[in-house]
Amino acid sequence: MLVLDGKIAAAAVKESLKLKTAQLAAEGKRKPHLAAILVGNNGASETYVASKVKNCEETGFESTLIRLSENIDEAALLSTIHSLNNDPAIDGILVQLPLPKQISEQKVIEAIDPSKDVDGFHPINVGKLVQGLSTFIPATPYGIMLMLEHFNVQTKGKHAIVIGRSNIVGRPISILLSSNVKEGNCTVTVCHSHTPNLKELCLQGDIIVAALGRPGFVTAEMVKPGAVIIDVGITRVEDPTAKKGFRIKGDVAYEEVAAKASAITPVPGGVGLMTIAGLLKNTMQAYEQRVNRS
Ligand code: GUN
Repeated sequence: MLVLDGKIAAAAVKESLKLKTAQLAAEGKRKPHLAAILVGNNGASETYVASKVKNCEETGFESTLIRLSENIDEAALLSTIHSLNNDPAIDGILVQLPLPKQISEQKVIEAIDPSKDVDGFHPINVGKLVQGLSTFIPATPYGIMLMLEHFNVQTKGKHAIVIGRSNIVGRPISILLSSNVKEGNCTVTVCHSHTPNLKELCLQGDIIVAALGRPGFVTAEMVKPGAVIIDVGITRVEDPTAKKGFRIKGDVAYEEVAAKASAITPVPGGVGLMTIAGLLKNTMQAYEQRVNRS
């Protein structure tokens, strides 16, 4: 059984980006620059954004963190995004989701210049993804594809079961895995809360991507021997014995499923780290496209 270790795969991606950034510096060029907007004080979002900023620094990128109050109105957030759209020093813009209730996430996503949309959430970029055109692939699905590539996991002709249909993970990974690309060419079944025969479908999966946000949902009895398991879950579960008072749990019952699988991503230390790698790759891509256009 192979542990698909996100630390190893993400380090490889980061190392190659670090070399590229050092090369840019040697040529006297500016660095890629990511602007991250964090609205409010959601604990998980704080952690994710801090990690994104830290990883930018470690890779040699510039980063700017813009913190806005929980009570900010939509117009003020949109105005901040417009300023970043018009700032030639900024290559990538990321607004951490979820946003407070008074703000329309859709309006925010559509306000970001598609050429700076390193999350790949803008409908123009989603449309390009669906049509197999060059675009920004949303960071988590991109990270999964990079993980499959790093560990040379064979996907062609395999049946992939995707549990979850979110715009951030389930929908885009189902498109990528069915695409005619090296880590694609799967037959994909997308399952969701109205799928009646989920266990039977999962048992047919050569690859299972669990992205529904329910800790321990995928159990050994749902898994075909030798399946490849990609666990996207990162739910905080209360644990008084843990230092922070909680533990991060995946959507897969790790121990029992690992005993049956041929390969599995751990949580933490799996897909989460690859999400950051995907974001960094997108930021470099945004930079290169900007520099080549001007
Ligand atoms: N919230 C959960 N995942 C993501 C992500 O990939 N990008 C942003 N911006 N917010 C998120």
